Amino acid sequence: MADTGHATTTEQTDVGSYFVANYPPFSLWTPEAVETDAKPALAQPPADVPLGLYLHIPFCRKRCHFCYFRVYTDKNASEVADYLDVVGREWELYATQPAIAGRALRFIYFGGGTPSFLSVRQLKSLVDRLSAVTPWTDAEEITFECEPGTLTEPKLSQIRDMGITRLSLGVEHFDDHVLELNGRAHRSAEVFRAYDFAQSLHFPQVNIDLIAGMLGDTDEKWHAAVAQTIELSPDSVTIYQMELPYNTTISSDLLKGTGQFTETVANWSTKRRWVREAFDALEAAGYTVGSAYTAVKNPETTRFLYRDQLWQGADLAPLGVSSFGHINGVHMQNQDSWGPYAAAVRRGEIPLSRAFRPTEEERLIRELVLQLKRGSVRPAYFSGKYGVDIVDRFGPALASLRTDGYLMACDADQVALTREGLLRVDSLLPRFFLPEHTDLRYT
Ligand SMILES: C[S@@+](CC[C@H](N)C(=O)[O-])C[C@H]1O[C@@H](n2cnc3c(N)ncnc32)[C@H](O)[C@@H]1O
Ligand code: SF4
Repeated sequence: MADTGHATTTEQTDVGSYFVANYPPFSLWTPEAVETDAKPALAQPPADVPLGLYLHIPFCRKRCHFCYFRVYTDKNASEVADYLDVVGREWELYATQPAIAGRALRFIYFGGGTPSFLSVRQLKSLVDRLSAVTPWTDAEEITFECEPGTLTEPKLSQIRDMGITRLSLGVEHFDDHVLELNGRAHRSAEVFRAYDFAQSLHFPQVNIDLIAGMLGDTDEKWHAAVAQTIELSPDSVTIYQMELPYNTTISSDLLKGTGQFTETVANWSTKRRWVREAFDALEAAGYTVGSAYTAVKNPETTRFLYRDQLWQGADLAPLGVSSFGHINGVHMQNQDSWGPYAAAVRRGEIPLSRAFRPTEEERLIRELVLQLKRGSVRPAYFSGKYGVDIVDRFGPALASLRTDGYLMACDADQVALTREGLLRVDSLLPRFFLPEHTDLRYT
């Protein structure tokens, strides 16, 4: 189906979540399941799956108007040091759990907030503390998210020395006025400086994040941002379509009608067109589209283990305030505010706030919908792992995708989306959900 490019009511970027990060929806996760499911799962020996670590650094120089992550912009150096101490203690607690004890880490993700907010000294002490518990030199991939304006040459050298293999830069846009309108702390000059430092240090992989649909964006500015990205030639480019979950500043402005923002977020058909045009330009420059959000320069050498392992049901230990994890078949999330999170760890408890144990069928659906974000899945993978023929089991959902023009292939070899399907994949995934989950909020 072609986009008309015209705004309709449903095409407007309304307040609410779009991105499907997990399944079943977070609104089903409960505090009770921490006792009945999460703690017993931590007390069991591990299944034969890879283990990853997600570590949330919730500090930022400024809160971007569109951001929905748990971040703090008012913490001083001693509070940051306290936080790092609590995270270190939390990892020591995990190391005593039978599900985690003695296991090697296959991948690590420093996310945020802004991990690069930390000073060189703070980074050093964090690494010393965590790697004293579990050495991570053998991890295949270590990602580190950065806000470009926080990166100095010594800090980037320290990040390189920590063994980071995948440096991810939150560039978002190159137009300084757009960056300012959206409350970003950095400007384009800081991106160029940070990018040059990073190149000189030869990180195995550098990724640039962009957002299609920032306040004040236009065709011209977006095309220039994409051209600028291609000129820098990063190993991978991640493009998100701007969404407005309830907890962003823009959303509360829209809901209260305070009129703080005079610019609006582009509608969904415009955002899809911008991503389509970006993918076209990246492909013309030699990149390969690897998912609904990413293009990579060399698919043979550039992998994204964290994403792929997560989407295949790997274990993930969640460290830090509000972090999400998955261990021994149970989804779990940490306390999502500072006080309760730190207090629980200091009492010697794993600081979980809610959890959910999916059934075998829900696990199958979770993997299917998440892997569909790559554009195609192999039915053989699902029949091998779950004993289910997905073409048969999800016949009606697949037929509806075909009718709407979003399905390119559907046979024993592969189920593949068209480019139009891929560009709107998150809005199509609920078609695969169990009926009782289709109308639930994701958060
Ligand atoms: C934790 S941030 C990356 C590191 C650092 N905090 C930064 O912003 O530079 C993760 C990414 O989420 C994306 N993001 C944040 N809020 C978004 C929203 N409302 N819609 C779409 N993407 C969003 C941005 O591309 C951002 O780079
Ligand atoms: S988008 Fe990044 S820099 Fe901005 S507030 Fe969110 S986490 Fe911080």
